Amino acid sequence: MAFSSRGFAALALLISSSVAQNSTNSTNAPVNANYDVLTYVNQLIGSNNGGNVFPGATLPFGMAKAVADTNSGSNQGGFTTDGSQITGFSSMHDSGTGGSPSLGNFALFPYSGCAGDDVNGCNYPKITRATSYVNSSVVATPGYFGVELASGITVDMTVTQHTSLFRFEFPATDASGNASSPLILVDLTDLSDSRQDNGTVSVDPQSGRITGNARFQPSFGSGTYLSYFCADFSGAPIRDNGIFVDSRASTEVKDLLISRSINGYPLPGGAFNRFEKAGTILARVGVSLISSEQACSNAKSEIPTFDFDGVHRAAVSLWRSKISPIKVSTNGISTDTLTNFYSGIYRTLVNPQDYTGENPLWESDEPYFDSFYCIWDLFRSQMPFMTILDPATVARQIRSLIDTYRHEGWLPDCRMSLSKGFTQGGSNADNVLADAYLKGISEDVNWDDGYDAVVKDAEVEPYDWCCEGRGGLDSWKALGYIPVQDFDYKGHGTMTRSISRTLEYSYNDFVITQIGSGLGGRQGDVEKYTTRSGNWKNLFKADQTSAINSSTTTFEGFFQPKYLNQTWGFQDPLKCSNIDNNPNDVCSLQNNGPETFESSIWEYSFFVPHDQATLITMLGGPAAFVERLDYLHNNHITYIGNEPAFLTVFQYHYAGRPGLSAKRSHYYIPAYFQPTEGGLPGNDDSGAMGSFVAFSMIGLFPNPGQNVYLITPPYFEEVEITSPLTGKTAKIKNVNFDATYNNIYIQSATLNGQPYTKNWIDHSFFTEGQELVLTLGSAESSWGTHVADLPPSLGAYKGFGNFTGSSNSTLKSGKRAVRYAAANMLNELSKKTGGAYWAETEG
Ligand SMILES: *[C@@H]1O[C@H](CO)[C@@H](O)[C@H](O)[C@H]1NC(C)=O
Ligand SMILES: *[C@@H]1O[C@H](CO)[C@@H](O)[C@H](O)[C@H]1NC(C)=O
Ligand SMILES: *[C@@H]1O[C@H](CO)[C@@H](O)[C@H](O)[C@H]1NC(C)=O
Ligand SMILES: *[C@@H]1O[C@H](CO)[C@@H](O)[C@H](O)[C@H]1NC(C)=O
Ligand SMILES: *[C@@H]1O[C@H](CO)[C@@H](O)[C@H](O)[C@H]1NC(C)=O
Ligand SMILES: *[C@@H]1O[C@H](CO)[C@@H](O)[C@H](O)[C@H]1NC(C)=O
Ligand SMILES: *[C@@H]1O[C@H](CO)[C@@H](O)[C@H](O)[C@H]1NC(C)=O
Ligand SMILES: *[C@@H]1O[C@H](CO)[C@@H](O)[C@H](O)[C@H]1NC(C)=O
Ligand SMILES: *[C@@H]1O[C@H](CO)[C@@H](O)[C@H](O)[C@H]1NC(C)=O
Repeated sequence: MAFSSRGFAALALLISSSVAQNSTNSTNAPVNANYDVLTYVNQLIGSNNGGNVFPGATLPFGMAKAVADTNSGSNQGGFTTDGSQITGFSSMHDSGTGGSPSLGNFALFPYSGCAGDDVNGCNYPKITRATSYVNSSVVATPGYFGVELASGITVDMTVTQHTSLFRFEFPATDASGNASSPLILVDLTDLSDSRQDNGTVSVDPQSGRITGNARFQPSFGSGTYLSYFCADFSGAPIRDNGIFVDSRASTEVKDLLISRSINGYPLPGGAFNRFEKAGTILARVGVSLISSEQACSNAKSEIPTFDFDGVHRAAVSLWRSKISPIKVSTNGISTDTLTNFYSGIYRTLVNPQDYTGENPLWESDEPYFDSFYCIWDLFRSQMPFMTILDPATVARQIRSLIDTYRHEGWLPDCRMSLSKGFTQGGSNADNVLADAYLKGISEDVNWDDGYDAVVKDAEVEPYDWCCEGRGGLDSWKALGYIPVQDFDYKGHGTMTRSISRTLEYSYNDFVITQIGSGLGGRQGDVEKYTTRSGNWKNLFKADQTSAINSSTTTFEGFFQPKYLNQTWGFQDPLKCSNIDNNPNDVCSLQNNGPETFESSIWEYSFFVPHDQATLITMLGGPAAFVERLDYLHNNHITYIGNEPAFLTVFQYHYAGRPGLSAKRSHYYIPAYFQPTEGGLPGNDDSGAMGSFVAFSMIGLFPNPGQNVYLITPPYFEEVEITSPLTGKTAKIKNVNFDATYNNIYIQSATLNGQPYTKNWIDHSFFTEGQELVLTLGSAESSWGTHVADLPPSLGAYKGFGNFTGSSNSTLKSGKRAVRYAAANMLNELSKKTGGAYWAETEG
């Protein structure tokens, strides 16, 4: 999900026309494994320019996520580096999301003293207490975040699974030179001012322990959630304490019951402690979704002695062990490239969050994960990446998804803060389950229940399909498509997206067959869902054209909306594309949204992940398909900052042109993904963008929901990935590697020493620790181009000729890409494509 920044054409895109480097010395270089992977994690990537990442302290999948919150309009992840001010230090967050800011509950805020030494001399409301921070003071490393406020107070923090440990360093004197009497407040106001009625807070006069709870709203879903905390303090004797409401405070009152925020106004309310002296004061904040008692016991058992360094060390060590299974050769590789890579990996392991033991909604011994935010984003590459790097956690996440189905009736499509999030397209948890199933995720997973869950998505329409399952199932089954302006009286949801829903439902039905075939005994289902997985064809209008600026693109055949009565409707294939500048077009979940979700018919044209062969034939054959993909990218119709673009980068593989996938991958990375604060092209979406970078750079991009990775050369001379499940190490080596990426075309390959011509590989590569050796050159070759080399597809590949060689010739400068009409022109096409093929179409 992301539809914010459209104007990225301004980003000057330079395709480097680099000179081939001397590569004679680059074969068989061993991975230099002596580096610390954490050196290359920069958590501030995406903390500006709408990346919305959570840059703070967390464990992998941790529930406690501590960071400074700012008053930025883009503070979905808490902290930003956009010149905004800090309003507090809170302990729960999501990462990379759109929508309203998530969580950000129970923020602390420090003062060295209150004016006149009167507790009413401090500023309590979030709006008035906002304070700048010293830019250069920000330190964000795995398990750690620190910053200095303009007030001179430094705050740093580390975490365990459910507990934040904040360390406040108060100067000895306050601004006027008086001795400090520090005050730390806890505010019941959350990041998005969503607090509901009856928030409570209490402070214990002697110990200074502050406990409380409040009900809040999820940021992109329905319902509310109740959250609890328990804050203990250490480091200085308590001077006095009390509560505040609005801008007034009292040391006489120790308990507060407060109503909701009023029309989004963050009615302040909370408690505070004042301390006898300055120096270091620690605040240990336990969080819980069960009770304040549980928040206190979580905190006490996880951080019994306020040992900041010990907690920090444990967090670092956990992160290092999670990420270290991936090592690369750093020969010739810049720190920027390594940082891009490892930071992407890091971000894939921040969410979903492990709330096991903290789920008040049902009794179960199964794990409970939350912040699947949203599966429409996560299924494409984040979940598959975790399946390689952390399969044990994926097994627990799958169990959680299935358990959510058991107790709430449906698999979630988006979930945050114990609430059902909004569904964007199909029932894409089906894809997540199928991907995990095909890749052998099995530890304690009840796959029979998993299968029942995906079949229910396909068969039973929820009364309210805003937030789970699928709508329009009667039409789906009877007509074989989701009609525009469907008649649907059985369930209710936003009646838009008929094309993208049809495409996603088709794929969802296909992935059911993948689980069904594997489980066995379900042949009838497999046939039924295989048939339904072809429903996408019913919206293909073979004579539909598309024009840009009233001039035809020459492409014919696009998906179009269709009414209940089988009559075609019309949607401009470019509507809601990245180059749609019509200010009246709304493209997301609005009631007047289009028939395609957050993107265009142009881009959705490629979303038939299970039957690329048939799609290629329908679009005019492999050459026309390649030409259309090129047009999509070269004209910026697609937007790499939103997830539907991901697979289109690599779909050249299906047309027998794996070299063009490699080239396209380098077109986007690093131009659109840079290791800088503003370096992400859109919302990170929980780590989806990070996983796109990570997969692209290891050179094996998944077609999620299938046991398929599309092979491109890694961005490193060598990559080694040790499977945490089997302990075996998979290796990919580039022969003739050059770090300027002129040699990005595979000439030949071996797998475990045997010649390998398929342009894809399956998951056993990772679990069995296989070795792939790719010999590279500076021009496309015939490797991976034959029909027998292509990835699996439901239909048969047709119209493929023989690739008879490559050429390094380029199109003449200034000329637009030549259009190739014939279906069987691979040889011809290859002669016209070379290093500068895309560069020159950039103008
Ligand atoms: C490449 O390196 C080898 C080994 O040092 C050297 O013999 C050769 O001249 C170099 N070639 C070029 C084109 O620089
Ligand atoms: C070959 O690579 C090694 C290791 O990076 C380096 O020490 C050596 O100087 C290189 N040799 C040549 C001829 O470039
Ligand atoms: C801190 O960084 C922000 C964002 O880049 C900038 O607007 C602000 O001017 C910087 N402040 C100082 C004091 O440099
Ligand atoms: C500092 O202390 C003096 C003397 O007690 C007091 O009058 C003054 O208000 C204090 N200043 C602040 C800012 O609290
Ligand atoms: C808040 O508490 C009062 C008093 O117990 C109760 O009447 C009211 O229903 C509660 N409000 C909500 C939203 O639960
Ligand atoms: C269409 O027109 C706009 C505005 O004049 C222009 O910026 C854009 O480049 C044109 N697109 C094409 C593909 O010609
Ligand atoms: C089918 O339904 C659409 C939408 O109501 C209508 O515009 C169209 O005329 C109908 N076609 C026929 C053949 O009745
Ligand atoms: C491709 O080459 C094979 C073997 O050389 C040949 O049998 C086949 O007919 C060729 N196919 C086409 C479409 O030219
Ligand atoms: C490209 O082809 C030309 C002419 O055949 C040749 O001279 C040149 O060395 C080639 N360049 C590369 C990088 O292969």
